[in-house]
Amino acid sequence: MTERTKYIVGNWKMNQNTEDVIAFFDAIDSAKLRHEAWIAPQAIHIPICLQNTDDFKIGAQNCATENSGAFTGEISPASLKDIGAHFVIIGHSERRSIYNEDDATLNAKAKIALANDLTVIFCIGETLEQREAGKVEEVLAEQLSKGLADIDSENVIIAYEPVWAIGTGVTATPEQAQETHAYIRQYINDNLSIDGNKTSILYGGSVKPSNVEDLLSCKDIDGGLVGGAALQADSYMGLHA
Ligand code: PGA
Repeated sequence: MTERTKYIVGNWKMNQNTEDVIAFFDAIDSAKLRHEAWIAPQAIHIPICLQNTDDFKIGAQNCATENSGAFTGEISPASLKDIGAHFVIIGHSERRSIYNEDDATLNAKAKIALANDLTVIFCIGETLEQREAGKVEEVLAEQLSKGLADIDSENVIIAYEPVWAIGTGVTATPEQAQETHAYIRQYINDNLSIDGNKTSILYGGSVKPSNVEDLLSCKDIDGGLVGGAALQADSYMGLHA
């Protein structure tokens, strides 16, 4: 059996100020981090995070499809690399639904991030309506095949985040999540250029200290992408307990 690294990735979304960032890292007990510890703060806080920790990998929540040019307000993947970011989250459901990022755009973002030597956490997930219509596999297959088209890299991590579980307090059961993760791994092996057995697949959607162990003990769940429960250090530490 392939041993895959497990990750607890905090997605801070548009939260935290400078004081919160410093307080978070001050309160972390590094000796007790059991898994790879990653945080995606607001992009402008990446340098402050890097200055306050040696134990976490720090990354962005989004990046542009180009490295430079007339793209007012965008975040250059080359600049992320330049300031020391390690990874970038691509295709979070909030980017897909609020900012209308489609599969082709996300594919371009993933490619340019990888070209800049940033690890990509590529997010996929179905809505409640799609789940109830029995379309989970169809939706995930499309997001994977289009979003990761022509990508052959060991620096891709998948995050399966059912949209109905994000920020709602409703978590997929470990059985539901495991079943879907197994499908994703098989789909990758059968259809994509990356190696499904080596690719870490994180679960996201209302992960918290009380459910993290049941989720992470599933065979195909290689960690969590965590919003709300990763904002405070004590709760984040609880995800490593
Ligand atoms: P949540 O968010 O843990 O607050 O549900 C997860 C995410 O959006 O990545």
